[in-house]
Amino acid sequence: MPATENAAVPDNLLEPSASADPYPVLRALRDADPVHWSEPHRAWLLTRYDDVSAAFQNKAFSSDRVRPLLAARAGRPEQPSTAVLGLMSSWMVVSDPPAHTRLRKLAAGAFKGQGIARMDGMITRIVDEHIDGFLRGSGPQDLIEHIAYPLPTTVIATMLGAAPEDRDRFREWSDELALVAFGAGGTARADRHERALRGLREMDAYIRELIAKRRTDPGEDMLSALMAHDGDADHLSDDELVAMCALLLFAGHETTTNSIANSILALLRRPDELDRLRQEPGLIGPAVEELLRFDGPIKVLIRWVVAETEVGGRTISPGERVHLVLAAANRDPAKFTDPDSLDLERGPNPHLAFGKGIHACIGAQLARMETRIAVSRILARMPELALAGDPQWKVSLASRAMAALPVTHGARRTS
Ligand code: HEM
Repeated sequence: MPATENAAVPDNLLEPSASADPYPVLRALRDADPVHWSEPHRAWLLTRYDDVSAAFQNKAFSSDRVRPLLAARAGRPEQPSTAVLGLMSSWMVVSDPPAHTRLRKLAAGAFKGQGIARMDGMITRIVDEHIDGFLRGSGPQDLIEHIAYPLPTTVIATMLGAAPEDRDRFREWSDELALVAFGAGGTARADRHERALRGLREMDAYIRELIAKRRTDPGEDMLSALMAHDGDADHLSDDELVAMCALLLFAGHETTTNSIANSILALLRRPDELDRLRQEPGLIGPAVEELLRFDGPIKVLIRWVVAETEVGGRTISPGERVHLVLAAANRDPAKFTDPDSLDLERGPNPHLAFGKGIHACIGAQLARMETRIAVSRILARMPELALAGDPQWKVSLASRAMAALPVTHGARRTS
């Protein structure tokens, strides 16, 4: 067991106060013990920018966490979550090379072919439809429920080529996947598992049907692009195609929702910056990078140690777990001047909100575009947008996520 020096530093990121505002705890950890063994988490917490950045390139840190779980269950009675682990086992995000290299290459080609830069019209239309619905309501309403939450799944379902009438089902499947994926350790109630699994079987059948259609009638959509290597020696099997669609839906949903919601909250709490962005909409590019640095959607990424390594003078041993604390690295004063201020023109801004290295977010360009368009349209169409209460933060290690963002949009409506 690792030595526990500096045990007095508060290091439980799951305390409700640390969920509401993790930054004071992270600052204290970075100052007092930047490579810290946390008993509550049974993991090392890396909080310095340089250490987190280097960890992305360190081969002693593995992302492969599902295959070992699945292997440990071999020969035991099947649990409901085993099916989900099976699906997740071919997700690139939980794979190491060479499996990762192959999956990433096949997916990257499909992303490139989609011409994300040309999608602004489609995304603006979807954002505006959701804002229209929001503006029809009055009084305090939840911006997450009505705009930030439905947007990413509608966009990815559209990109995958789902029919418009089916797009809402993608949102349900994404939630069901989250329920089982996060409950895979066995904490979720069995009946919730059963319900979630029914939904996932539905998703599996739906995507297989879509695959069969595209095989006879390929389109311009991303599923067709993922199937472009169908006849080649190295192509995605149907199981891998289903898993890839599920990953794209899952990885891009909560993250993009929180990117939009956290951005709007940060701006509403800083009226000067909010006014500035309204006056100078051309600032939206650097502003979104800064908002992702300042309060990005992912607080922590997890790695498993597969070889002895040293970080900041501490020896980290095989079998241990490491938490790369992006939220701390992105506010490290050794890297960012005045890191706790929101500076919409900050540049350069080498934040780690999308990770780095071989697993760096493959959807970053799409996520940036969705966030830019959503924030711009919300500010432009709701000139009287105001907070209607304190948001509640979810207690979560990995995500920086609000349960709801209650706002009012005032009386004026802008088209
Ligand atoms: C603001 C929104 C987003 C943020 C902050 C974000 C962040 C990240 C981060 C930090 C990673 C690295 C994970 C690791 O190293 O373990 C990652 C990977 C990934 N992201 Fe995103 N993401 C966002 C949106 C999206 C979207 C929209 C998609 C797809 C539609 C997506 C798909 C993926 C995939 C497939 C990976 C795995 C890449 C690999 O393992 O090679 N993400 N994302």
